[in-house]
Parts: sequence; C-alpha cells; structure tokens
Amino acid sequence: MEEMLKTLPQHTCSWSKGKITFYKYQNYWTSQQLVVGGHLAQQSFKAYPTDIFLCSSPKTGTTWLKSLAFAIVTRQKFDDSTTPLLNKNVHECVPFLERGLEIIEENHKNSGLPLVATHFPYPSLPESVIASNCKIVYVYRNIKDVIVSHYHFRTKAMNITSEDAPFEEAFEEFCQGISGYGPYWDHILGYWKASLKRPDRILFLKYEDLKKDPTSNAKKLAEFMGYPFSTEEEKAGVIEKITSLCSFENMSNLEVNKTGSIRVGGLENKLYFRKAEDGDWKNYFTNEMKEKIDKLIDEKLNGTGLILKHNC
Ligand code: A3P
Repeated sequence: MEEMLKTLPQHTCSWSKGKITFYKYQNYWTSQQLVVGGHLAQQSFKAYPTDIFLCSSPKTGTTWLKSLAFAIVTRQKFDDSTTPLLNKNVHECVPFLERGLEIIEENHKNSGLPLVATHFPYPSLPESVIASNCKIVYVYRNIKDVIVSHYHFRTKAMNITSEDAPFEEAFEEFCQGISGYGPYWDHILGYWKASLKRPDRILFLKYEDLKKDPTSNAKKLAEFMGYPFSTEEEKAGVIEKITSLCSFENMSNLEVNKTGSIRVGGLENKLYFRKAEDGDWKNYFTNEMKEKIDKLIDEKLNGTGLILKHNC
C-alpha cells in the first residue's frame, strides 16, 4: 500500500496551512486514509443483491440521506422515540464502505441493515456492486453551496481559522477539481450517466428538492428502496414523523450531535451540522466567482441533459 501511495499524484491545499493533502486515486482526489480504505473495499468487498447503496459527494446531504434511509428501513423495529438516531450519530448507524467493511460484513451475515454509504465515484465502485445489480440512491446539491460547506467542514476539522484560510484559494482549488472525491462535476456525471442506462436501479435526489418537499421525496425514497409506506402509515402521519425526526433542526439539536465524536475517523459529530441553508454561497461569492463557476458548470454539463440551476 505504501508503494502504491508513493506513485499517486499529491496536492497540499494552499489554504490549509499544509494540513490537508489530497491524493489522486483513480481519477478522484481524497485523503490518504480514504485511498487506503477505498482500495481495500475494491479488493475485498462482495456486495449482496439486497444491499442499497447511498452514494454522494461529500457535503451534498449525505448525513440527511443516511438519516432518512435509516429511519425508513428500520421503522418496523423502532419508532421516533426508540430509534438509535436519537443516541448515535447517523454515521455510526449506517456504515461507510471506505471505512466500515467489518460492520457491513457483519450486517450481511446477520441479515442486518441493508444500507451501505459511500463517496466512491461511480466508476470506482467495487465491481460486485454493479454485478449484483444493487439499488443506488444518489444525492447531489448545487455546487456553490457545496464549495462553502466543504470549506467550512475542512477548516473546522483541521482547526484552521477562516482568517488563516482564504476562501478565494479554496474556491480556486475546487474549480480545478481538487476537493474531497472531486472533481465534483465528474462525480455527479458518473452517476447521472449510469442512471440514464439503469434508471430502475439508480435514484437521483436533489438536496434542494428534499428541502422544498421532504414528504414526497421521503415517499419516493421509501418506494425505491422497497420499503413503501402503506396507506395506513400515510394516514397516521408516519412519513411526516420520519421527516421531522431527520430534519436539520431536530438532528443538529440532539445531544449526541452537539457533543459526540465519530468512532471511526474521530471527527466531532457537530461538524456534520452547520447551517443547512440554500444559497449560503451568496455570503461568500463575489460576482466574478459566481460567473466563473456558472461558466465552468455550463461547460462541464453541456449536452449531458443534467441541469444544475445556477441561482438556487
Ligand atoms: P452546510 O455546511 O451548508 O450547512 P454531508 O452530510 O454530505 O457531509 O453534508 C453536510 C451538509 O448537509 C451541511 O451543509 C449540513 O449542515 C447539512 N445537513 C446535515 N444534516 C442535515 C439535515 N438533516 N437536513 C438538511 N441538511 C443537513
């Protein structure tokens, strides 16, 4: 592994005071730890056809999607007063492929939770995920808010003050494709193109749509995963109970998410909950930045049929 790491292109983020180094592995950038975890998963992970993959680029709504999917899939076992989501951060409830192979294998053995989360780009998913025809849910978000969210997450995780880390430099690097699991546009396009070929196996959800209408999106998610809500459940308001349980307001105020840390990776849980606002980018972007990113996205998505609205 050490030899392999030495062969990979590396990039230390100029705005991170030397604290963040990304490695380029199979056309995407990530940390050393996640190159190793990803490589291991690619070598040894065997998907079950019943596995449901929750895929995303970092900072696009992973935490939210995992919470909703977990609450939906486990609703016969737990209700909104007994769910583990009240006492455990959701990243402890739904394992990450690149970090939690043993937990996933344990779930396979015990017919436990079918959910597996990953940040892998589509072409890097372990072969068995595609060969087993597993269902995939992909969440994405407007790029400008992702850039801001990514910047805050990384600076806080590394204890770098924003005065020491110029946002403009982080923005430029993101535009060069250098970000966690970036380039971001390649990440979305990989799943988008696959979803056009396999629409019955890949569900696309947009963070902004989830915000606008959590109920119908939660319903869509449940149906796709094979856990549809019954008419009785709908009448009893089960969907709304799940969406309020998983709402930012509720999740970010739980004691576990205000004070705890994640066992694997050691990051503070509160880092996964910042503002959750659409359009926070307007507080950070100059007009030039807006024009640059809009142009870049137009170029990258041109002719693909995928539209990322510029002003949301
Ligand atoms: P902001 O930094 O814009 O606030 P990820 O989970 O992929 O790491 O993404 C983190 C982003 O999702 C953060 O965005 C975070 O605040 C937001 N988020 C976390 N939980 C959420 C929830 N339950 N509902 C909506 N947004 C949520």
